[in-house]
Amino acid sequence: MEHSKKSIADFRENYQLGMLELEDLKPNPIQQFEYWLNQAIQAQTKEPNAMTLATVDNSGRPSARIVLLKGLSPKGFVFYTNYESRKGKELAQNPYAALVFNWLDLERQVRIEGKVEKISPEESTQYYHSRPKGSQIGAWSSPQSQVISDRSILEENKEKYTNQFEGKATIPLPPFWGGYRLVPDKIEFWQGRSSRLHDRLLYTKKESKDWKIQRLAP
Ligand SMILES: Cc1cc2nc3c(=O)[nH]c(=O)nc-3n(C[C@H](O)[C@H](O)[C@H](O)COP(=O)(O)O)c2cc1C
Repeated sequence: MEHSKKSIADFRENYQLGMLELEDLKPNPIQQFEYWLNQAIQAQTKEPNAMTLATVDNSGRPSARIVLLKGLSPKGFVFYTNYESRKGKELAQNPYAALVFNWLDLERQVRIEGKVEKISPEESTQYYHSRPKGSQIGAWSSPQSQVISDRSILEENKEKYTNQFEGKATIPLPPFWGGYRLVPDKIEFWQGRSSRLHDRLLYTKKESKDWKIQRLAP
């Protein structure tokens, strides 16, 4: 039995789907990101907008979790969450954060770093109301990241808020819920290559607001 089991140390892929050259890149990394995101969507990657968000608390301790990218503009990357969650508290203590996209089907990774700001309540409201009603109630019902004694707390809250908002034309945006925008100053595009000699191209924002692009060793 033991012999037929593959050790995790033996799982490895030789990446050879693509390559990344300086001259392939768009001058603006958000445009380059959009281009890769569309390719991930076309390749039918599962949850192509899922990204790992890393935050750091005021003692320097990092934490990471997956959230969904819900908006992309020249300003940055927008995601939605509970402002009183662990990540919300950490972002209030330290606004610097990092995002990682991992599109395994395309042998690609994108790493993004920058400063996070809250988006306007108007923008959050617009997105909140575009969500299914169940998700809107869900946001009211979950004290995200807090310890709860039992799942029944969530079911009770769901019933409470469903009753409270019944017959109302719109459910109000919870004051503790909304979007953040990560405004990037570094974005790295990684394409797997053979023999572990991958391509890494890093955009860094200059004082002039233009971007410089450098190749990094893999
Ligand atoms: C695929 C996937 C997508 C997720 N999307 C979100 C999201 O958009 N917003 C969110 O608050 N949590 C999302 N979560 C849950 C988070 O990973 C996390 O459990 C939650 O936000 C609490 O994190 P915190 O306690 O560090 O604040 C997602 C989880 C997965 C696996």
